[in-house]
Amino acid sequence: MQQLNVIILLQREKFISHLEPISVEEFAYFRRIIHDHAGIALSPEKKIMVASRLAKRLLHYGLQTYGQYCQLLNAGQHPHEFQLMVNILTTNETYFFREPKHFDFLQKQIIKSWRGDNFRLWSAASSTGEESYSIAMLLAEGLGMRKWEIFSSDVNTEVLETARKGIYLIDRLDNMEPSYLNKYCLKGVRTQEGYFRVDEKIRNRVRFEQINLKTALPKALGQFDVIFLRNVLIYFDTETKQDIVQRVISALKPGGYFFISHSETLHSIKTELSMVTPSIYQKLCK
Ligand SMILES: C[S@@+](CC[C@H](N)C(=O)[O-])C[C@H]1O[C@@H](n2cnc3c(N)ncnc32)[C@H](O)[C@@H]1O
Repeated sequence: MQQLNVIILLQREKFISHLEPISVEEFAYFRRIIHDHAGIALSPEKKIMVASRLAKRLLHYGLQTYGQYCQLLNAGQHPHEFQLMVNILTTNETYFFREPKHFDFLQKQIIKSWRGDNFRLWSAASSTGEESYSIAMLLAEGLGMRKWEIFSSDVNTEVLETARKGIYLIDRLDNMEPSYLNKYCLKGVRTQEGYFRVDEKIRNRVRFEQINLKTALPKALGQFDVIFLRNVLIYFDTETKQDIVQRVISALKPGGYFFISHSETLHSIKTELSMVTPSIYQKLCK
């Protein structure tokens, strides 16, 4: 299997080395459409990255130039191709219990004193699901059989598929407590050796749907007690960030909490939020 992967990789490398380099105009085209569609601002330094990520689609269709791929996208004969291109151009890095201070805060400052009747949390750029399942394990510990739910969304359909399956490499456990692995995950055996699956009782509490934060939110989304919007604002320019933050927090209940990454800032963004601690905000009650 490993040998086959190496052969495929070598063939891909050989194919890429024969491609005509992406031109300035072609790169400008991809920059424009991903910005218009998802708000993602690709800097000029991302030219090589874009070319190498898209090369596999050129390989798939046997195309020689990025211009031919642009034409294929516009011709309308492959209606699913646009979404595949969006999937390829998003960056989806994530892991379990990323930024542990957030999980500490959620557990000690929010869940512990929670007195409501249905706790609703939205992971608004959930990628492959590690963030949502980490939160779900905390809620299972803190709220147990009480009513709670996690709604998770992303613009990338491929990561959502992975998230719904809830199967991960054991190597990807990162900051997860061993007791959580025993309680909320099933270790794979035989052909599944090296993988684990998040238990059904946790998976059933988490729903994954496609939402593009650049566009209006679905009417049925409802209001949330907590929203995580972490490690995605870095991909947007200030104008898009303002627009997206405003839209996302419109789904936050007054008094609800809003989490961004420690490496992000809401500096120069106008909101109805007050900072509780760096990267954690609370929506003002009117
Ligand atoms: C780096 S991941 C962050 C995952 C997780 N929140 C974390 O902090 O580990 C960023 C995610 O944002 C998603 N994304 C980018 N633009 C988006 C948009 N306009 N609407 C919804 N999701 C978007 C990407 O597809 C990607 O999965």
